[in-house]
Amino acid sequence: MRRFFVLVTLFVTLAAAGATNAGPAGRVNVLCSPNPAWCDAIRAEFPRATGIQLGFVRMSSGEALARMRAERGNPSFDVWFGGTGDPHMVAMEQGLTEAFKPGNWDELRPELREAVKGRYIPLYAGILGWAENKKLFREKNLPEPRTWTDMADPKHRGLLAMPNPNTSGTGYTMIATVVQIYGEDKGFALLKQIHRNMAQYTRSGADPGLLTGRGEVAAGVTFIHDAVDQILKGFPISYRAASDGTGYEIGGLSLVRGTPNRSQAIAFLEWSLTPEAQKLAAERGQSYQIPSNKNTPIPRVAPRFEDFKVIKYDFIKYGSADVRDRLVKRWTTEVFPLPK
Ligand code: F6P
Repeated sequence: MRRFFVLVTLFVTLAAAGATNAGPAGRVNVLCSPNPAWCDAIRAEFPRATGIQLGFVRMSSGEALARMRAERGNPSFDVWFGGTGDPHMVAMEQGLTEAFKPGNWDELRPELREAVKGRYIPLYAGILGWAENKKLFREKNLPEPRTWTDMADPKHRGLLAMPNPNTSGTGYTMIATVVQIYGEDKGFALLKQIHRNMAQYTRSGADPGLLTGRGEVAAGVTFIHDAVDQILKGFPISYRAASDGTGYEIGGLSLVRGTPNRSQAIAFLEWSLTPEAQKLAAERGQSYQIPSNKNTPIPRVAPRFEDFKVIKYDFIKYGSADVRDRLVKRWTTEVFPLPK
C-alpha cells in the first residue's frame, strides 16, 4: 500500500512538473495604441518567440493615458506599446510608468533617445500632415490647403476633419504644433478659425484619413504614415504636410509601474525593439513609421523627415503634464464649443 502511495505521489509530482514545462511562461497585458493590425501581429508573434502569452486592448493615446490615470496603483496593463510620446511622458512624470533602459537601448536611433531624454523608450517616429482628396477639391473648384493658415480659410468650411486632442495623440500633436509655430494666443486664434471648417472631429488619429478616402471630407489631419496606409488600401487620396511647418511624434514604449508581471513585461519590451519584431509593423501591421532600432529596415513607403519642413518639436515642454493638460483643456473650453 505504501509503495502505491509513493508511486501516486511521484506520478502527480511529475505530471505537475510536466504541465509547468509545457505551459506558457506567463502572460503580458499590453495597452496597445498603434494600428490594430500591428497589435494583432505582436499578439501572434510574441508567444512564438518567447512562450509568453500576450493579450492587448487597443486605445488611442489620450484615452490610454486616461485609463492609466484611472488605474493608478492597480494597473491592468504591464506595458504600454505605441501611441504618441506626450502621454507616455505625462505617465512617467506622474509615476504611472517607470524609467527602464532595455538591453538593446544602444541600438536605438540616438536622435530619438536624446529628444525624449529617457522619459520613455522610443518605438518609432512619424510626421504629421494631412490626407487630401484632390478630386473633391477640384469638384469644389478650390485649391488644396498648403499651410495651417490655409486650413483656417473660410472657403474650406465643412470640408475638413481632424482628431479630437482629448482622445487622440495625433490631435494633440496638431494643436501643439500650431502653438509652437504661431505662439499660444495666435495659435489658438488659428485653431478657432480651423474649427469653423471642421466637418468632423474623430476619436482616433487614423480616422480623418479614412474619411478623406471615402470622400466625406476633402482633407483630414493625420500622421502621414496613416495616409500612406489608406493609399496602399486603394483609397484615392494623396498626402501633404503644412509648408509653414509640421510637427512629428516619437511613438512611445513604457513599462507600467507596479506590474506583477514585470519579467514578462521586460521580455516584451526588449523583444519589441528587435529588428525582427519591428519589421512586423510594415509587413503585417499596416504601419509605416520610421522604426526606432537603427538595424530595422525603414519601410520603402515610410515618409522621410528630409522631405518635409519639420519643426524642432519640444517634446519635453509639450509632454509635461501641466502644459499638455492645460492646452487640451483650453482647446476643449475655448475652441470645441464654438459654433461652426
Ligand atoms: O495609426 C498609427 C498611429 O498614427 C501611430 O503612429 C500613433 O502613435 C498613433 O496612431 C496615434 O493614434 P491616436 O491619434 O489615435 O492616439
